[in-house]
Amino acid sequence: MKTQVGIIGGGPSGLLLSQLLHLRGIDSVVLEKRSREHVLGRIRAGVLEHGFAKLMREAQVGERMDREGQIHDGFGIAHDGRVDRVDLKALTGGNTVIVYGQTELTRDLYEGRDRLGGVIVHNAEDVIPHGFDTHRPFLTYRNGSGAGRIDCDFIIGCDGFHGVSRQSIPRDRIRTFERVYPFGWLGVLTRTKPVSPELIYARHERGFALCSLRSPVLSRYYIQVPLTETVEEWPDESFFEELRRRLPREVASALETAPSIEKSIAPLRSFVVEPMQCGRMFLAGDAAHIVPPTGARGLNSAASDIYYLYNALLDHYSRGDSGGLENYSQRALARVWKGQRFSWWMTTLLHKFPDSSAFDQHLQQTELDYLFSSPRALASLAENYVGLPF
Ligand code: APR
Ligand code: PHB
Repeated sequence: MKTQVGIIGGGPSGLLLSQLLHLRGIDSVVLEKRSREHVLGRIRAGVLEHGFAKLMREAQVGERMDREGQIHDGFGIAHDGRVDRVDLKALTGGNTVIVYGQTELTRDLYEGRDRLGGVIVHNAEDVIPHGFDTHRPFLTYRNGSGAGRIDCDFIIGCDGFHGVSRQSIPRDRIRTFERVYPFGWLGVLTRTKPVSPELIYARHERGFALCSLRSPVLSRYYIQVPLTETVEEWPDESFFEELRRRLPREVASALETAPSIEKSIAPLRSFVVEPMQCGRMFLAGDAAHIVPPTGARGLNSAASDIYYLYNALLDHYSRGDSGGLENYSQRALARVWKGQRFSWWMTTLLHKFPDSSAFDQHLQQTELDYLFSSPRALASLAENYVGLPF
């Protein structure tokens, strides 16, 4: 098979890029390791910044997001027994976020690809990028129908943190930056009315907690847990008991519970690879960077990569201008690092660190006091949360 852009990975990054390119007459093929059911079965985050929403509309897959997604003008930070509100809209001069599950967004992207006849090869095993240091890169893979080869002009690695694209780059051509946090988030999804119409991030001496939601009848809750703990050690009852303890009394007493329909532990990690390109292979999304989920930046950082890549590929194919491709990594990383800084800052502000000293705890408390006593400090939080410009 021959195409212009060979994309590894059919998550939000790969699908969005292939859809955007298709609409501008650029051909691509997506190789996805898993089945569509598997990809759509993953429960991930669900806060979209307005820039991401704009790209979804440009890709002609924003209709359901606009209909069913909830616009959130603000969120709460619970601390010291009360909830302080961050009024995103007022603090940013009108910007908001959309709460819409990544699972739903991925479904819309698949439907968009189907509608236009996009080619997605599922269950593609042993995908290998070849020749990205030459003018004739190609991909090889295996699936039910045998071995396959895709010749292309460019390879885009959208295959997530554990994917093959980043790992195929010779070690002396890249540098990685990483911080692993000594805790994880235990998440539970329940068919209940969310405890609050807006998200509540909670700092508590027992550890962080988050009350989030997917819809008016679907709640998503998280608590910080040590990495040594397992899902089996957290029956629903214990989870909700611990969650209640970490929330202000009036929030805890309003919490409705029901059997969990999903429960998992995710470790927290910050990670960046530099550069995000090697010859004719470009990395985007989780393949190039990971953030802890605290600032809701993961999916949104992927979106800006796709925006830069899409425009760079357009310039290349429509005007023969390869400047955008040459500078892709530099442009993308400038924004990626700002997302890293914000996610690290929010994680540090709200979590209990096992090795923190009394001094560290004082600073954490002071940071919160400062935040809610300074409209300028709060405006900085808000502009990062709704997403910095691309
Ligand atoms: N070959 C082909 N596909 C692969 C391979 C491989 N070797 N390895 C992984 N994949 C697929 C995965 O099955 C997955 O569907 O690549 C896809 C990567 O998708 P994501 O992990 O969702 O990454 P991305 O599309 O960059 O999405 C952005 O933001 O908030 C974060 O983690 C969140 O998924 C979200 C991400
Ligand atoms: C979620 O709803 O899963 C969620 C929301 C906000 C975050 C992280 C996760 O910061």
